[in-house]
Amino acid sequence: MHHDDTPSNPTTTRPFEEIVAARLSRRSLLVGGVAAAALTLVPGGSVAGAARPANGAPGQAAKRSIGFTSIPLDGGPMPTVAPEYRMQTLIPWREKLDGSGESFAHGTFTWQEQERSVGIGHDGMWYFGDDRRGVLCLNNEFGDNTTVIGKAQPESADDVRLSQAAHGVTVVEVERTSTGWRMVGSPKNRRIHGNSPVAFSGPAAGSALLENGAENPFLGTLNNCANGHTPWGTYLTCEENFNGYFGARGSWTRTPEQARYGLSAGGFGYGWHLFDDRFDLSNPAYANEVNRFGWVVEVDPNRPQDAPVKRTALGRVKHEGATVVEGRGGRAVVYMGDDERFDYIYKFVSRSGWRSMRARGVHPLDEGTLYVARFDEDGTGEWLELSPANPALAGKALDWILVHTRLAADLVGATPMDRPEWVAVGDGEEVFCTLTNNTDRGKVGKPGADAANPLAPNPDGHIIRWVDADHHVGTTFEWDIFAIARDVEDEDGQMFGSPDGIWADPDGRVFVQTDGGQPQGANDQMLVADPVTAEFRRLFTGVVGGEVTGIAVTPDRRTMFVNVQHPGNGDPTLTNFPDDFTGADGPVPRDATVVLSRVDGGVVGS
Ligand code: FEO
Ligand code: CA
Ligand code: CA
Ligand code: CA
Repeated sequence: MHHDDTPSNPTTTRPFEEIVAARLSRRSLLVGGVAAAALTLVPGGSVAGAARPANGAPGQAAKRSIGFTSIPLDGGPMPTVAPEYRMQTLIPWREKLDGSGESFAHGTFTWQEQERSVGIGHDGMWYFGDDRRGVLCLNNEFGDNTTVIGKAQPESADDVRLSQAAHGVTVVEVERTSTGWRMVGSPKNRRIHGNSPVAFSGPAAGSALLENGAENPFLGTLNNCANGHTPWGTYLTCEENFNGYFGARGSWTRTPEQARYGLSAGGFGYGWHLFDDRFDLSNPAYANEVNRFGWVVEVDPNRPQDAPVKRTALGRVKHEGATVVEGRGGRAVVYMGDDERFDYIYKFVSRSGWRSMRARGVHPLDEGTLYVARFDEDGTGEWLELSPANPALAGKALDWILVHTRLAADLVGATPMDRPEWVAVGDGEEVFCTLTNNTDRGKVGKPGADAANPLAPNPDGHIIRWVDADHHVGTTFEWDIFAIARDVEDEDGQMFGSPDGIWADPDGRVFVQTDGGQPQGANDQMLVADPVTAEFRRLFTGVVGGEVTGIAVTPDRRTMFVNVQHPGNGDPTLTNFPDDFTGADGPVPRDATVVLSRVDGGVVGS
């Protein structure tokens, strides 16, 4: 909700009102037990059959059983969880990376301390390890100036550097002890932040579009929202609303490309450009600095000496997440949402199998094809190639396409969506994407309802689902709408709004997290859904003013990590989370990870 800025896609599509009614009636057939019928339409019936081998069969239903007690909505200062579960908090903002369990103090906090402690804005994450000990990679999306530096506007370069240090990624080794999980002192513990050295790779790496006048090094990753992880054991962190950190100190003429990415003279009010030339759009020495953000960035959790690598083949958008699945022939397939009103859903397919590419010394995310999705009203869709081989992009250089991906996608006729957020792959084939909301759909001059985005306006969001042809590597797909948030109800009424985080476990359970705008003004939450019956249960509720986001599990799935982001929006009179303090002048609330486990030791979600 902090990042709703002006939609920047000027594309308008013809309204599809005439097909919405048909679409909705088709949805009512698909949501529920008949969903499997859609799969029979997928080319290559054996692949589709393999996707959900036992849907509806008693054994599979037992595997994905959701046995916990659904809890009510909550508006309180601390999280709640289903009675069959326990929870603890872990790695709050400012905890030192040395494993001492201590945190740096709030009032005297410096950028040097922030570079040696957990960042703020806990968001996407993944866990690399065994059931007892491993490395947690955690995105630190953003922190308001008031919370981080104690004032609305920076007054010095040190203020800016503290804010920059709070962003990025936190990598920490954690272990389970007899009293719960804790951070351990480890050479793998590190912070990657707004001033960390980074590298570029892939087709646009040497592009003039990434050069600055001076020989400025590549520095920093910002607004690290959701994530992915690769089959070769690395972490993907995704740069979302990077535009908000840039501003113009002097006279600046916005290019059409910059307009499409929402750049403005004031940014989101961080004020970095006032003290750091890199973020000053009017400084010709840094004319292309903004093109260095908006990428999917790879981090090796076990090689702290390695700089993060920005993978240009995956395109430059406001990347929400990057969900990797192994497609036919061992290809690495990456599904990605671009979170902006009327923006698009993308897919990258590696040139060949990831194992053989690595054996040849080629990185699987450096060579392949990028596509953008068009959803047709008949329930089919097409992945449109984003390369000079597409006649709609004739004459465009590949580096231009990869750096200005949104503009390329406009040219090929992608479908403008209701803010694509996370993507989850369930049961091997079914792909889910949360479309968080879009209050602008249907406004004058904006696209109206269409089959894939059937509500205008759409204040509560929906979840779309598709199955790709050819085991994730084809160029066509079959889609339906899995859930429309306002229609999902329990005895207390609408269960959730603004779906954002989504993850499917190997048994087929779908975990949905929310960001803002809950029924009855309640706190953000995490629910678990059965993809066949579309039954939802509420497992966890967050903290007043805070968002629930990020999901990671141990291999046995008996431990789950989730995050509470911006608790109380930094206001200690609303909550002191994670400190359970009830006095009038308690500590400033801190973003933190929450560890969930079943009291009986069962799989989380069951
Ligand atoms: Fe960072 Fe779209 O949420
Ligand atoms: Ca957020
Ligand atoms: Ca999000
Ligand atoms: Ca969101």
